[in-house]
Order: sequence, then structure tokens, then C-alpha cells
Amino acid sequence: MDICAVVLAAGEGKRMKSKKSKLVHRLAGRPIVGWVHEALNSVGAADQVYIVGHLQEQVRAALGEGVAFVIQERQLGTGHAVMQAAPFLESRGGCTLVLVGDAPLISPETLRDALAMYESDGYAAVVITADAEDPTGLGRIVRDTEGNLRAIVEHRDATPAQRRIREINSGMYVFNTPLLLSALGRIGSQNVQNEYYLTETIGILIGDGHRIGAFKAPFEETLGINDRVQLAQAARIMNRRICERHMRAGVTILDPDAVWIDGMVEIGADTEILSGTRLEGATVIGEDCVIGPASRLIDVTVGDGVFLENTAAAGCRVGEGARVGPYACLRPGTVIGRNSRVGVFVEIDNATIGDRTRAAHLAYIGDADLGTGVTYGCGSITANDDGSLRQRTVVGDNAFIGSNAVLVAPVEIHENAYVAAGSTITDGVPAGALAIARERQTVKRNWNRRVPT
Ligand code: UD1
Ligand code: CA
Repeated sequence: MDICAVVLAAGEGKRMKSKKSKLVHRLAGRPIVGWVHEALNSVGAADQVYIVGHLQEQVRAALGEGVAFVIQERQLGTGHAVMQAAPFLESRGGCTLVLVGDAPLISPETLRDALAMYESDGYAAVVITADAEDPTGLGRIVRDTEGNLRAIVEHRDATPAQRRIREINSGMYVFNTPLLLSALGRIGSQNVQNEYYLTETIGILIGDGHRIGAFKAPFEETLGINDRVQLAQAARIMNRRICERHMRAGVTILDPDAVWIDGMVEIGADTEILSGTRLEGATVIGEDCVIGPASRLIDVTVGDGVFLENTAAAGCRVGEGARVGPYACLRPGTVIGRNSRVGVFVEIDNATIGDRTRAAHLAYIGDADLGTGVTYGCGSITANDDGSLRQRTVVGDNAFIGSNAVLVAPVEIHENAYVAAGSTITDGVPAGALAIARERQTVKRNWNRRVPT
């Protein structure tokens, strides 16, 4: 079956009080409208057209090249919006999914079930409905005594009896494409809002003697986002779904309300994610890790068996068996080797750290390449910025950097070399050598005359 999709995405979204289109506000790492796009991709809707208007440049940028756009200059109602796609739909048969760009929680399963219902029973259209606790403002589903859908009545046009109906129109539908086009050509704007209602097509199709199905979905999937309170509600629901998917795949998350995971993140089995942790972007975590508490990883690749605690990391890789934190900061371009140790208050920036290398406390390693088995002492830093240029520091395998050293880049410490504590190193240190670069200690006897000696 050919599946087209029309997504209504022209509205203004005033209640967000935002300079940004509400459709590009992010939820679990994707723009709101991007979730709708994803759901459509997963049900194989090859041809997607987005009806855009307000802040359309942002909506286009969020969706990229793979979809079509049609401009709705003035927002004259949901029916008018779909009419803008008529030229796009005319060349296509099959069925059309109509969705709204601001309802990101619609699941591929629900879309699949609604499509299956549409196919099974010769319906002209299937309306996705839900039972709302508070249906105020939403269109009501009116059924006859046999339970068949008879009409959709907008809240403002509804009688008191109809307002008591709790089954609502989600604003999402599957339509037979030629029948949708035929009905769209006949809708008017004679209603309380003087808008072209898409829902009127349902009445027209029933009048033509067609059958309309109603597929009931969980209410939360139909939630539209109009303000930031609803954005937070939707984010929590989405996050709960993502966490549960990982838990079912073998990841331990004991407090999913205190862990936030973006949609694209991958996590291996038997890894544990602790409270206060955010895993963002294209982060990939291996098996048997403990991540958190209180860590934020953005686009980070973590190998198996890593412990990472109270750490901020972005754009970096952490090798198998490494231990990071607490209170470490890994900046972009950093690669941490296997079984290495990055300890308390250590910042690493655009540096490679070899396997089994240790920087256990209070250190800064920027623009550097450390070999394997290096010991990098407490309080030692690379002076990597000469005021205008960033310069590199190289430390060979099994070198030992004592405490509180300053390695003034560009400089190279060769393998097996030692740097004495407190040294300021400005010249290279040959392999196996010891460099001491500090003032000799002087002792002035009886300096303190108040103390008898
Ligand atoms: C519509 C349905 C209502 C349903 C509700 C679910 C109609 C007449 N009513 O209500 O039965 O319960 O959705 O949320 O269809 N949009 C455009 N262009 C327009 C108008 C709207 O792109 O000209 C977009 C909006 O940005 C929004 C979506 O379509 O994302 C729905 O519009 P909205 O005004 O919220 O829906 P209602 O008409 O109130
Ligand atoms: Ca409206």
C-alpha cells in the first residue's frame, strides 16, 4: 500500500512565548516535529509533505531534505491546511496519514494499527481517537447506537450533551486519498470559528455513504504541545518510554524519573545508569558500565566496563575498563585509553590518553598526547595556550610526571622519562632521563628568632 503523509505544521504556537517555532523545541534530543517525522518513517510513509507557515525556515531546517513542504500563507483552519497539499496528493493513490506537527508522542504502533484497521474493513477513513479525562476544547466523537462513528463535533459547536462525550478526536487520521480530495473540495467555513474544518470531510464522506473507522489510542499519544508545561509533560512521557525500552533490553535504571536519555542513545546490557544522569545526542555506552550519579554525556562513546561518576563529557571516547571521576570534565576531541584512570577534578581537553595511563587528581591535560602507562601527577598541567596559539604536549609511554609540574607546550617528554615534582618544563626531556626544573631549596637557620633552637 502506498502511504503518503500530510503533517500540519503552519500554526503559530503563541503560547510557547518563544522566538523559536514551537515545532523545533527539543524533546529527548529531537525537534518536536522530528518525532512525527520519525514515526512516519517507521511506518513506511515514503512521501511526506509538511504544511508550513509561521517560522517556516526553522521547520524546514529541522526536517531537512527528505520531505516536501507546502506553504499555507494564512491559517484558515485544518481543512484549509490539508487543501494546500491537494496538488501533491492528486498524483498519488493509496492512503494518506494526516498528522499534526506538535503531537510528538504518537507511536509507530498506533499508526500501524490504524493503517491495519483502514485496510481491513473498506473504510474511507479511520480517525485516531482517545478517551480524555478533560476533553475541553477538543473535537468530540459522536457514535451511533451500534458504535459506528457518526460525526466529529468541535467543542465550540457542540451541544451540552455532546460536550459530555469523553472520546475525542486526536486530529490524526488515515484517509483514502482520492476520497479525501473529493471531500476537501466540498467543505465550507460556516461554523463558529469561520474556519475550514478538516473534520467536515468526515461528515461529507458519511453523507456519501462511506464508512468511517475510529481507532482508539492511549490519550497520552495524542497530546499536543502548546506551551512549556505541556512540553515538560511530553518530555517526561517520552523519557519514560526511552528508559523502559533500555530496561527491557537489560539496562538497570532504578530511578527513571531522575535519568534523562535522548532518543538516539544506545546502551549495552548490564550497564547501570544512576540518578541525575543525562545521556544526550549520539551517545553510545557499552556493557557492564556504571554511569553516574550526576553525569552529563553529549555525543560520547563509552566502551565496556567503564565507571564514570559525576562527570561532564562531550564529543569524546572513553576506552574499555576506564574509571572517570568523580568530578572530571572531558572536553571535545578527547580519547581516553583502556583501563586508564581519570580522577577527581581532572579536566582533559582535545587530548589522547593511552591505555593504563593515570591522572588521578587535580590535573589539566589540554592539546596533548599521552602514551600508555603514563603517571600524570596531582596538580600537574599542560600550559597549552601561549596567548595566541594552542600548542601540543607529547608524553611518551611509561613516563612519570611528578606532582605540580607545568609542561609548557610545545614540548615532548620521551618514554620512561621522569619529571620532578614542581618542575616547569620548557625543553624536551630525553627517554629515561630525569628533568628537575626548579629552584634549589635554601635553608636559613635561626630565621625565626622567637623559637629557641
Ligand atoms: C483540531 C480538530 C479537533 C481535534 C484537535 C486535536 C479540526 C477542525 N478540529 O482542533 O477535532 O480534537 O485538532 O488537537 O480539525 N494548523 C495549521 N493550519 C491551520 C490550522 C491549524 O497548520 O490553518 C495546525 C496547527 O498548527 C496545529 C494543528 O494544525 O498543529 C491543529 O490545529 P489546532 O488549531 O490546534 O486544532 P483545532 O482546530 O483546535
Ligand atoms: Ca483552531
